[in-house]
Amino acid sequence: MSNYHIKHLEEYFQVYRKSVRNPEGFWEEIAEEHFVWRKKWNTVLDWDFSKPEIKWYDGAKLNITENCIDRHLHIRSDKTAILFEPNNPNEEARHITYKQLKEKVCKMANVLSEKGIKKGDRVVIYLPMIPELAISLLACARIGAVHSVVFAGFSSTALSTRINDCGAKMVLTSDGSYRGSKTIDLKGIVDDALEDCPDVKSVLVAKRINSNIVMKKGRDEWLAPLMEKAYGDYPPEVMDAEDPLFILYTSGSTGRPKGMMHTTAGYMVYSAYTFKNVFQYREEDVYWCTADIGWITGHSYIVYGPLANGATTVMFEGVPSYPDFGRFWDVVQKHKVSQFYTAPTAIRALAKENLDFVTKYDLSSLKVLGTVGEPINEEAWHWYNDHVGEKKCPIVDTWWQTETGGILISPIPFATPTKPTYATLPMPGIQPALMDENGEEIQGNQVDGRLCVKFPWPSIARTIWGDHKRYKDTYFSAYEGKYFTGDGALRDEVGYYRITGRVDDVIIVSGHNLGTAPIEDAINEHPAVAESAIVGFPHDIKGNALYGYVILKETGESRNRDNLKKEINQMITEHIGPIAKLNKIQFVPGLPKTRSGKIMRRILRKIASKDTSNLGDTSTLLNPEVVDTIMKESL
Ligand code: WTA
Repeated sequence: MSNYHIKHLEEYFQVYRKSVRNPEGFWEEIAEEHFVWRKKWNTVLDWDFSKPEIKWYDGAKLNITENCIDRHLHIRSDKTAILFEPNNPNEEARHITYKQLKEKVCKMANVLSEKGIKKGDRVVIYLPMIPELAISLLACARIGAVHSVVFAGFSSTALSTRINDCGAKMVLTSDGSYRGSKTIDLKGIVDDALEDCPDVKSVLVAKRINSNIVMKKGRDEWLAPLMEKAYGDYPPEVMDAEDPLFILYTSGSTGRPKGMMHTTAGYMVYSAYTFKNVFQYREEDVYWCTADIGWITGHSYIVYGPLANGATTVMFEGVPSYPDFGRFWDVVQKHKVSQFYTAPTAIRALAKENLDFVTKYDLSSLKVLGTVGEPINEEAWHWYNDHVGEKKCPIVDTWWQTETGGILISPIPFATPTKPTYATLPMPGIQPALMDENGEEIQGNQVDGRLCVKFPWPSIARTIWGDHKRYKDTYFSAYEGKYFTGDGALRDEVGYYRITGRVDDVIIVSGHNLGTAPIEDAINEHPAVAESAIVGFPHDIKGNALYGYVILKETGESRNRDNLKKEINQMITEHIGPIAKLNKIQFVPGLPKTRSGKIMRRILRKIASKDTSNLGDTSTLLNPEVVDTIMKESL
């Protein structure tokens, strides 16, 4: 057990050293002691970052749901597995015990199976944060189908692109969703998306908002009556360690979204191990991560990590501002939440409101606070620490990515002394490296560079679905023999890491990764637009907001600018979703370009951030004069 629950700093260093000296031995011991296997592995690790090919626990056989559900039944049968807190605080919360979870997952597994879904088939899940969402992930895993959850805030175009990319045969959705005081017509979005998805033969619809939706004959069916009739047991499909568990799309700096593929055994071991350590979860705790299961944070730290540890995990359907800005703290008080995990953007939004929204609740149940998704600024860190944690709760600033499957750098509460804005130290098994411009690893402390990882860990994504070359080019080509994260970081005098942000064309807005290319593609589809460039600029609450520079075609010049701005944002909403809307749009006569035709985003970024005192070298520009015009007219 000693490797599994780290209790003080010295122990962390001991465990860390062991994990680096003998990674295979380290991960073998954890896998052996803490999980159930149908068959043990032949080799712990095979890897070659030049291909890249990574296999953990090859030869092993297992089912992740057996580890997340069945094995708990003899001791935790009546313990709450999922605690569902609805959007409306007057609707009663629902406790789903491990026993009930097993029955629901098995019923849904039978439903999927009766609809012809088999091991290896892809199922797209487009559901709001209701229990059916978690259950559907587990039901897919039970029968060996590969789930691909699409965040239910994405548009129909984004949804159809993802359905077609992974070749899904089935979509799970609902008649709609609640979001604060609003409802959203999810089924309508699915109907639109499916116009472009000929391979989807079946749509199962969960009832949530009782709206009047159209069910397409022969394709759509209500989920509840099927579940009712279904048998409540389903033997777990025996999976290979490296069988795909899920595909989750993330934005790239260019073109199509990347379907990151995660496999079964390594992902299970790493998400469970990090959950236990980063949140110091104890049997009686109630753990709450406010993310949506549509993102990796929800996969690893609402569903798989917590359930593999037999935890009680809260699923929250609502938003932090409904019915008022005290909602998070109301829920913490009501369910006596012990670990609370959220995003810096939510903290910043709540910190702007009256402090009474926090102080009127009893938050004494809290033990550990977490953040994820983007760098947390010092002010937000202190507000969280002072007012939510009342200076008693360590804050774990967890750095990781969709690609990494689990947390790579984070303090371990009560062991690692925290430092505002620092993700601090690597988890056991994680070997970070900072690289300089010449591709050399930077040694020593008090340095900064581009963040890479030198050695594989169990939950690293194995490929981009259908595009292994892109996987190699994106992550393993910038620095030979290393996984490149796309982030910059600095290492302070004691070896703590601080993530400074993306060094590529991905912009993080309210914790959501947005690639510039797909947004620009959407804008450029507007008939009046000739070309566009998107950059991020600092925003109080969102962290970054989007600033668009747009060149109009001649035909667009005479159009009303305000209307054009609305239409451009409408295009973005249709193609990607409202999260990618631009805060500012500036119409420009041209864009600063290098002689090779590349847009010099560095300059656009500075203008958008009103940081124009030193624009750096503009001599290599093809059209330096355009910079003055853009500056003069900037918003
Ligand atoms: C950023 C989310 C600073 C980072 C789990 C990373 C962070 C990207 C942090 C991945 C953090 C995430 N501090 N930056 N604690 N956590 N990031 O794939 O730029 O949605 O590369 O995964 O978010 O975002 P993704």
